[in-house]
Amino acid sequence: MAFKEDLKIKSAYIEDLLKEYMPKEEGYQHTIFKAMNYSLSAGGKRLRPVLTLEAAKIVGGDQNDAIPFCVAIEMIHTYSLIHDDLPAMDNDDFRRGKPTNHKVFGDGMATLAGDALLNYAFEIMLKESIGKSNSDINLKAIYEIARGAGIYGMIGGQVVDVESEDKSIEKEKLDFIHMNKTAAMIVGGMRAGAIIGQASEDDLQNITKYAKNIGLAFQIIDDILDIVGDAKILGKPIGSDLENHKSTYPALIGLDESRKVARDLIEEAKDSIRKVSGDSSFLEELAEYIISRDH
Ligand code: IPE
Ligand code: IPE
Ligand code: MG
Ligand code: MG
Ligand code: MG
Repeated sequence: MAFKEDLKIKSAYIEDLLKEYMPKEEGYQHTIFKAMNYSLSAGGKRLRPVLTLEAAKIVGGDQNDAIPFCVAIEMIHTYSLIHDDLPAMDNDDFRRGKPTNHKVFGDGMATLAGDALLNYAFEIMLKESIGKSNSDINLKAIYEIARGAGIYGMIGGQVVDVESEDKSIEKEKLDFIHMNKTAAMIVGGMRAGAIIGQASEDDLQNITKYAKNIGLAFQIIDDILDIVGDAKILGKPIGSDLENHKSTYPALIGLDESRKVARDLIEEAKDSIRKVSGDSSFLEELAEYIISRDH
């Protein structure tokens, strides 16, 4: 099957799973459900959950066992976007082709919707792990996701991103930002999937390398698209980084050099994933897609 079609089917499957796991909009606190579901159902490429399931599959695991983790990773990612868009952070008005959460529900409710998605993600993972015969495997997977999202992962990267506005920073620090704010969630999700699939240590290492490299390339391309992308296709504004005086790859090394770095990272990622025991063709094509994408 052609890659694009395959990806469409896989992300449509994630859409169905998310619908299944979304909270019902009822009770006195129904506004929070509306706010969570607004951003969660707004679309999005669903790349992180697809990668989580693929990591389980490539090591010979049962993808069904990774379902709660792929749902959780998309909920946590969506929370990170809601908070990232807040006036106190990037102050953006559009996300996934719709007005941002705070534009519709207000800053307070958007903050809570982010908190709620983060917490609910852990409720789901824990609920589906309690009482399992090999629950230690699930605990390890939950740890990977917690770490990827936390102070040694996405939050850590966002902290330095915010602190690096209006500054010129060195390349190592920029790599820290990108590896943490973006790659860490991809790494956490893929490691979780691989652990659920009971990956060998070698396979886990190669999957981790792949995830780090596509994760860094993903953010470099995001920085490039913020300059040369089409807001309608992206579903979010362009020029946000320039407006906020963000430290980005194009700002530091220029557009052409940034594209070259991303290309090299993708080649490295493909080399690593080819070493994993299972069929790597989909993940190789997904790595290519990350640098050719327009949204
Ligand atoms: C946007 O992520 C935030 C970054 C880490 C660059 P995506 O480009 O994956 O956004 P969605 O999930 O498709 O909306
Ligand atoms: C944000 O990076 C990464 C997150 C952890 C949400 P950006 O601020 O560049 O993401 P976009 O461009 O708003 O999607
Ligand atoms: Mg940001
Ligand atoms: Mg942003
Ligand atoms: Mg961006």
